[in-house]
Amino acid sequence: MKEIHILDKKFREYLTEKVIQQRIEELALQMNKELAGKEVVFLGILNGAFLFAADLFRRIEFPARISFVKLASYQGTSSSGSIKELIGWNEDIKDKAIVVIEDIVDTGNTLERIIGELVIRKAAEVRIASLLYKPLAYTKNIPLDYIGFEIPNDFVVGFGLDYDGFGRNLPSVYTLIN
Ligand code: IMP
Repeated sequence: MKEIHILDKKFREYLTEKVIQQRIEELALQMNKELAGKEVVFLGILNGAFLFAADLFRRIEFPARISFVKLASYQGTSSSGSIKELIGWNEDIKDKAIVVIEDIVDTGNTLERIIGELVIRKAAEVRIASLLYKPLAYTKNIPLDYIGFEIPNDFVVGFGLDYDGFGRNLPSVYTLIN
């Protein structure tokens, strides 16, 4: 298995590019079946979801919009718990079916914050898509509709996810060794 260094840390390849792309294809197929005919807005959460959002959205075969909002809650390798402001809302989501696109659901704090905002903005229905999900860290009851991979409670980078700003460009997902 491939090992890489980012700054002071060592990571081991955990999900290969091929495995990730196959899973995204499956999720897109499911969405194409379940969501066609609805007025859908995909809502990517920056920065981490940009690659997942791109690879997923290009496989969507019904007419749909995509928009992005940004917030950040993470510094280094452990959740700070504090959530910053949500910026970049420029899409009218009232009465639309929203598919939130996340890179990873960890504690679920970010997700809860976004859902709250979608309720205020009167979305007709909300579904959650996340490439990665850490069930052991999740503290919320919000159901997750489209999950790429359930992973252990370890720190990961790659495919959009970063360690201190680096690693987002890696086509695979890597897990922290030390
Ligand atoms: P939550 O609010 O605790 O669910 O965390 C969600 C956000 O924290 C994600 O969108 C990521 O930006 C970041 N995050 C959580 N776990 C990891 C990880 O293992 N590696 C990199 N970023 C992570």
